[in-house]
Amino acid sequence: MAGSLAEKINKLKASRRAVILAHNYQPGEVQDIADYVGDSLGLSIEAAKTTAQVIVFCGVDFMAETAAILSPDKTVLVPESGAGCPMANMIDAEKLRALKREHPGAPVVCYVNSSAAVKAESDICCTSANAAAVVKSLPDQEIIFVPDKFLGQNTQKEAPEKKLILFNGYCPTHAKIMPQHIEQARGRHQGIKVLVHPECRPDVVALADAALSTDGMIKYVKNSNDREFIIGTEIGIIHRLNKENPGKRFYPLTELAICPNMKMTTLEKVLWSLEDMGTVIRVDGTIREKAEKAIRRMLAIGRQD
Ligand code: 13P
Ligand code: SF4
Repeated sequence: MAGSLAEKINKLKASRRAVILAHNYQPGEVQDIADYVGDSLGLSIEAAKTTAQVIVFCGVDFMAETAAILSPDKTVLVPESGAGCPMANMIDAEKLRALKREHPGAPVVCYVNSSAAVKAESDICCTSANAAAVVKSLPDQEIIFVPDKFLGQNTQKEAPEKKLILFNGYCPTHAKIMPQHIEQARGRHQGIKVLVHPECRPDVVALADAALSTDGMIKYVKNSNDREFIIGTEIGIIHRLNKENPGKRFYPLTELAICPNMKMTTLEKVLWSLEDMGTVIRVDGTIREKAEKAIRRMLAIGRQD
């Protein structure tokens, strides 16, 4: 079944001159038919440089929106239009404008997990792969950082010379990862490194060996001589880690770390999306232009981890 679906997808993909991009948290079968699998930063870079006419984006909505902002001449499709990011939805442009009024003159760094309208209100974006580098790139001392308070607190530790003004947003999936999970995992697997995502609470990050973006984890594991790792992020990444590192073993820090939105995309939906050329994601006008500036300013800084 999966084989024939994959064949149909590949045929249609070629005739549509499409490329399939998938995030590291996507279901394994979706990662397996993708042309490129990566983190938010890697996917943005790929979306900006692809020569394909059509981008099928397997992830959540802000990621597809970012692709549409960077490639306005391409057709960006999402196989599942209901896949949002709850953290991105915690802030909107009006809430950000209110925060800006409270702190006049402070520049805004917005995590890429945000809507196009929020990006358009921001000076520069960041991802989990470059948050501290982005903050440090600004000359100002006081900086508004939205929407992820945990990423903000973790970034504040890496940039003590700055004063970050935070918003009360967070990722409900990473918020499930607790310090006890690290203590229990270290009890079960002694001497094994614990890698976590910087969307985790600061008390979780403090107990881990490293806090990395999802591609940062992929690179860390590849370059390490260790054979076993405990992984503290959405468990979809373990598929890629297993595939690219035969002989190494990966243990989820907790099986609770599942993002339901990332699991909404299926192979069937990828096929239907290519058949019907839907759902098209478009961002137009001044929102697109302003959001593009904030994203491109971040892309110029690149990857830190
Ligand atoms: P990465 O950019 O590290 O892949 O993170 C994206 C995300 O949504 C994490 O929850
Ligand atoms: Fe959003 Fe968290 Fe899901 Fe990432 S894991 S898409 S931050 S809800």
